[in-house]
Order: sequence, then structure tokens, then C-alpha cells
Amino acid sequence: MINSILFKTKGLLKLKISENKLIPCSWLEWAVGWFKFFVISDKSTINSKIEFAKGQVKEIQGLIDSTNANSADLKFYTAARKTIERWNEVVGKHVGTISYKELFPVQMESSAFPSDSFEFFVTNAEKLPLIIRPKNDWNLQDFQDYLRAHQEEIKELIDKSGAIMFRGFPIKTADDFRETLAAALGKAPSDYVGSGFRGKKKAEAVLPSTDAPKEFSIPLHSERLFTHTPSYISFFCLTPPNRGTGQTTLGSALKINAALKEKGVWDYFAAKDSEGLKIDQMMTYPSKGTFYTLVNPAHKSWQQVFGKETKEEVIEILEQHKIEFNKERFLEKGTLEVHEYAPIFRERQSDGRVLWESIVHQFHHNARKHGGWFIHLLVNMLYPFQHLRMFNAQFTDGSKIPQDKVYQIYDALEENTLATTDWQQGDMTIVSNEDVWHGRAPSTGQREILAAVVL
Ligand SMILES: [Fe+2]
Repeated sequence: MINSILFKTKGLLKLKISENKLIPCSWLEWAVGWFKFFVISDKSTINSKIEFAKGQVKEIQGLIDSTNANSADLKFYTAARKTIERWNEVVGKHVGTISYKELFPVQMESSAFPSDSFEFFVTNAEKLPLIIRPKNDWNLQDFQDYLRAHQEEIKELIDKSGAIMFRGFPIKTADDFRETLAAALGKAPSDYVGSGFRGKKKAEAVLPSTDAPKEFSIPLHSERLFTHTPSYISFFCLTPPNRGTGQTTLGSALKINAALKEKGVWDYFAAKDSEGLKIDQMMTYPSKGTFYTLVNPAHKSWQQVFGKETKEEVIEILEQHKIEFNKERFLEKGTLEVHEYAPIFRERQSDGRVLWESIVHQFHHNARKHGGWFIHLLVNMLYPFQHLRMFNAQFTDGSKIPQDKVYQIYDALEENTLATTDWQQGDMTIVSNEDVWHGRAPSTGQREILAAVVL
């Protein structure tokens, strides 16, 4: 039920919807509305607001077209229509094309999963992911043996499809997930040593998929470890979020690459790359019990992320994995500042084609990363200095990365974000990390999705 939403305006007119009527409102109401929108709203409410706003544009256009409106009304209606159109554009783009979709059955020829024993479903035209369901009951041991016997065909199917999902198989625990993944790919998952250190392991090399606040969408990205780009990333659903929320979104890397070229971002970064520049991606982890870890629960301490209590132990891990960090600052001030000097492009393993590699948008400090200007403002107040921030990105020569370029990357990602199926308990997805990028829609309710990477 929509009772009081507010529209972003380009000019002076501020509008709110009250009991399904559009009325002008004050700056304060408008600001509070945006706060509610980005911080409190769940995705289904956001979608219903967009639908409502679309209806309003049509309705107002109808009023403008009618000859009865006097000039004062006409002025208001025209301004209101522009306002709503703008709102639709900004907000509609922000939440992207993510919406719950029913499963659509498809005919498939797969030697690993013949159609007399398995059925296939998709939720979008790009078939990401290809959902595989059994026609008969399986026990876990038999299923894992079956996967082991068909490893090569399964890998081929993942390469061809980009991502597959097992649904309706008896995978129940984090250990089941780990073993099933190893059975399917013939390789155990690797320990995660990357920028998204995510707390406690659920099984050997199995971690929670993210600890980002659930109100935020996570834009598409490929998974990067400090030292490797894994071949596969896999997700498993222990506890599904509320229906219609928290889907793992997917998008084709090749399409994202094409969009980056079309927008000119590719050429801009290619010029930087030819100068030998990389992206300096910085993260800070304060010591536990200090200011930032207390006021911002998302800002993890180094004790939390490494599970160690002494600096010496952490330094040993960092040096073992060849992770760059500011040793002086760590030893003297207690804050761990980790740097990754990440390349912008890389060659695709299969055909040597140059692909966009960078996940600079996840590190760059901007309002879109924070889900809107209001939170961005708060973040800026909380972190007035660059070196204190959780994340930061600049070129390796210390020069700034222009915000408009990063926003064009966001545009390319959002345009290519695909609606995927809602998670169900026991679902397991395997994604070709090189060809398909992943993200997350905002969620409500309990959401326990585990992740593992295979090199
Ligand atoms: Fe990820």
C-alpha cells in the first residue's frame, strides 16, 4: 500500500503521494521521503512505487491533453509529469530490472542431464542461470557420485550456459554444498583471500556470500581474490530471504564489456592502462573496539576478518598471500590498510580475448555505491578523511578516478542485470566467473546464502 512516497524533482516542485493522490510537499517531507525510500523500503515496496509512478505519468499526461485544465493547473501538471518521469528514470534505473519471475520450462539436450531424468527451467531470455531439477528422488551420495561421473560434461554445460542451478536435490548443509561442488567440478573449493573478507567459515572454504547491509543492492561484479581470479563461484541457499527479495543477480560479462565500450569508459581506462596504470584499491580494518568498529558495524576489525588476535599473526597471513599493506600504520596506529593494485583488463583463458577485469566501482567512494546521496552524506560525515574510509580507489599514480566514468560503469552493469529466480532452500548455483558476473538484490527477512570459489 502506498501511503506517503516522495518524488525527486529536478526543479522546485516537490511532490508526495498521499492516499494515492499527488500533492505538493515541503523540502523536509521530500528529504524524509528519500530517506525512507533508500533506508527503510524493501524491494517489493520500491517496485510498487515505480509502478504507481508510471501510472501517474500517464494520468497526468491525460490531464494535460484535456482542454479543461486552466493555465495554473497545466503548469502544475506539466511540472509534476516531468518530476515523475525524472523519478522513474533515476529510481527505476537504480533498482534495475530486478523482479521476481516465474520459472519458464525449456527444452534442452544435455548429455549430463538427459531429459528422461531431469527438467530445465529459466527465468530470463539469456537463460542465466539454467535451472536443473530432477524428475526422480535422489539421495545425496548417489547425486554426488552421478556428478563425479559426469564432470567434464558438467563443466562444458557451465561454460556454454554461463551459470547453472541445481534445485530440488538433497543438498542441506554447508558440508553437503562443499562436497557437491567438488563432485561437480572435480576440484575442492579454495580458501577465500580477497577484498570481501566475510567472517566465519561455514565449512572448509565456504563463507557467507556477503555481509553487506541487506537494504543495499550489490552491483554486478566478477569475484576476485588477491592473487587469483577464480574460474567458478558457487552459491548455496541455507535460508531463503523473503519472496521477491535478495536474489543473486547475474549478467553476461561479454554484454557488460560491449556496454562499457559503447559508453566510452573502456577507451578511457584503456588509455590509462597503456600508461601502465592500475587501480589502487584500498581497504581499512581498524582494531576491534575502536571508534569505527563501534559506530559502523559494517566496518570490520582486523581481528574479525582474520580471526587472529595479534598483529604478528595477521602480518604472517598477509605476507604469505603476498598482500600489500601499510606495515608502519598497522604497527604504530593499529589500523590495517590493505592495498590491491588491480589491473583493469585481463585475457580470457579460453580464447585470449581482452576482457574488462576491474571492480573499481566496488571501491570508488560515491553516492551510487552508497545507495543514494543521503547515506553518502552520512558516510562523508563519518569518514571525513580518505585514509579512514572502509574502501577507496584511485589510480596507482595517486590520481583520482573521475566519478562520471564510475557512474558509466554502474550504468553498464545495471543495464545488464538480469532477473533471476528467488532462492529456495537447497538451491545451488555454479557460475562461470569469467563469463558471468554476479550481484545481489536488496533483501528482507533472514538470508543465508553461502559462497565458495574454485580456481
Ligand atoms: Fe561477489
